Amino acid sequence: MFTDGVPLVVEDVTRRPAAERAGILADPGFGRHFTDHMFVARYEVGRGWYDARLTRYAPLQLDPGAAALHYAQSIFEGLKAYAQPDGTVATFRPEANAARFVRSAERLAMPPVPEQAFLAGVDALVDADRDWVPTGPDQTLYLRPYQLAVESFLGVRPAHEYLFLIIASPAGAYFPRGVQPVSVYVSEDYVRAAPGGTGDVKCAGNYAASLLPQQQASALGCDQVVYLDAVEKKYIEELGGMNLFFVLGSGADAELVTPELSGTLLPGITRDSLITLARDMGHRVTERKVTLDEWRSGVTDGVITETFACGTAAVITPLGEAKARTGDFLVGAGVPGTLTMALRESLLDIQHGRVADTHGWLHRI
Ligand code: COI
Repeated sequence: MFTDGVPLVVEDVTRRPAAERAGILADPGFGRHFTDHMFVARYEVGRGWYDARLTRYAPLQLDPGAAALHYAQSIFEGLKAYAQPDGTVATFRPEANAARFVRSAERLAMPPVPEQAFLAGVDALVDADRDWVPTGPDQTLYLRPYQLAVESFLGVRPAHEYLFLIIASPAGAYFPRGVQPVSVYVSEDYVRAAPGGTGDVKCAGNYAASLLPQQQASALGCDQVVYLDAVEKKYIEELGGMNLFFVLGSGADAELVTPELSGTLLPGITRDSLITLARDMGHRVTERKVTLDEWRSGVTDGVITETFACGTAAVITPLGEAKARTGDFLVGAGVPGTLTMALRESLLDIQHGRVADTHGWLHRI
C-alpha cells in the first residue's frame, strides 16, 4: 500500500543484463548511473494521491507548460541504502528524510507526501533494485526522492497536479579525491539564504542559486563555497550541500561546534547524527553562531584544530585551504583531522552494519 486506499503497483520490468550492472557497480562514480526501476505517484487537487507504481526507469513525459519548469515548485531528498554484512540492505534514518520532505513541501505550498507513503515508496524501490546496491568499500545506493509541479499553467499559484518520484543511483565517493581535504571559498558576494526564505528546506531553487558562486570558487581553484549569513555577512552558515563542524582543542577534551539552526541552514540528518555520535564519544557539542573571524583566528591561533563538512552524499569531508577576500588560511595543516576521521569511521561503521546500531538508525529492507 502507498497510502490510504492507494495500492502500490509493482510492474514487471525487464532488467539490464547482470554483466552490464557489474560493470557499472565496479566504478559507479556519483549520480551518473540509474537502476532498472523508478517509483512514481501522482497527485491531483480534489483526488489526492493516486496511481502509485514501481515502473521501468525511463524519461518522463512533461507538458512544456508544467509549473515546476517555470516557477521551480520542486523539492527533493537524498538518502542511501547500504549493503549489510548479512546480505540484507538497510537505509539510514529514512523517517527523518520523510519528515523533512513534508516540511519542504509545506514551504513550497505543495501537497505533502504522507511519511508512511514516502517510506513505502523507498522500500519498494530498494527491494526491487537490491541487486544494484554496491558492496565495495564505502559504496552505497543513493536514493533521490523528489516532487514537482506538473500542471500545465503559467499563472503564479500552487499547481493542482504533482508527481512524486524516487530514483536510485549506485554511488562511490562524492568527491573524486575521496577523503582528501577540500578547499573552500568564502563567498562575500552571494548568500545562500535569507531569513524567511527557503534555506531550511530542500528545494531545487536553493541549489540553482549556488551554481554561480560555485563557478566563482572553481575559478579561484576552490572545491566548495562557504556561505555567510545574509544579514550581517559575518556568521558562517553552511556549504550549500553540506553542514559544517569545527573542532576546538584536541584529544579527549576536544569540543565540537556547529552553526546553530538559525532558520537559514538546512537541518542535515548527517549533522544531527554526528552531534549524537560525538556526544556518545564523550565530546562536548555546541550549536551556536560562529563568525568567519572566529574561524580564521581560531585556526591561526591553534584553537580550531579541524573543520569538516558533512552530508548524505559526501558523508564527512575535511576542509583544508580556505580563501576569503579578508585573508586566506589553512585548516589543520591541510591533512584530515583525527576527530574528523574518527567520526567518519564511527558513522560509516553503523551505516554499513559493522557495529551495533544502538540508536536504531538502520531500517532493514
Ligand atoms: C545530499 O547530501 O544528499 C545532498 O542532497 C547534497 C547534494 C548531492 C545535493
